[in-house]
Amino acid sequence: MPTQLEIIHAWDELADDWDDMAAGSAKGFFRLLQEHIPLQSDMIVLDFGCGTGLIADLLRHRVKHVVAVDVSPVMVEILEEKMQAQEWENVQVFHALLGDHDDEETQQILKEYEGQIDLIIASSVLGFVTPETVGTTMEVLGRLLKPGGSFCHTDPPQMEQRNHFTRQKAEIYYKKGGLEIVSTSVENLDLGQGQSCNVFLGIARKPF
Ligand SMILES: C[S@@+](CC[C@H](N)C(=O)[O-])C[C@H]1O[C@@H](n2cnc3c(N)ncnc32)[C@H](O)[C@@H]1O
Repeated sequence: MPTQLEIIHAWDELADDWDDMAAGSAKGFFRLLQEHIPLQSDMIVLDFGCGTGLIADLLRHRVKHVVAVDVSPVMVEILEEKMQAQEWENVQVFHALLGDHDDEETQQILKEYEGQIDLIIASSVLGFVTPETVGTTMEVLGRLLKPGGSFCHTDPPQMEQRNHFTRQKAEIYYKKGGLEIVSTSVENLDLGQGQSCNVFLGIARKPF
């Protein structure tokens, strides 16, 4: 497993091309999300591992507020430029390593949003969280959710990549965040232009 710094560096390197690389999968994720979780105009949604904000851009028209969080400074910079140029009003971005309790931005997110998030999404992010920080990352995500709030993630399904997800593995992650499993499935993600791929879709909930 690469180190945290190597992972951040790898995402920085991809950031300039991310909008071209991932626009199709972001739309596919958004479609899948809406099929499984009804979005409401009064929701506060946290986009964990938001990248350049492709999904935040789709979400911001449908919910009250989007909190976008990413550890890659270049991804965040690109998102901030878009937000400024296009005057996004209901999106707040944090540059944070969410599982690191010493990270000042993580502390700030907790201070502002603990127990207030209706929905957390993570599109292809959990599989990149290092084993050392999975526990604290899930703990922070669990603290941010409202009781009854939902967590929805996609990751590679079994056998397709090294960091694949199974129901068993997802359940271990959810428990670390104090979440209960709602459903897991392998879904076909429409990437546009006639292309698609399989993804593991996991949904969990914070108990009341
Ligand atoms: C595959 S990209 C997905 C980006 C976005 N969710 C999308 O679908 O377009 C993974 C993103 O997760 C971010 N990431 C990985 N681990 C993270 C962590 N512990 N805290 C915050 N962001 C993280 C990376 O910097 C990267 O931008």
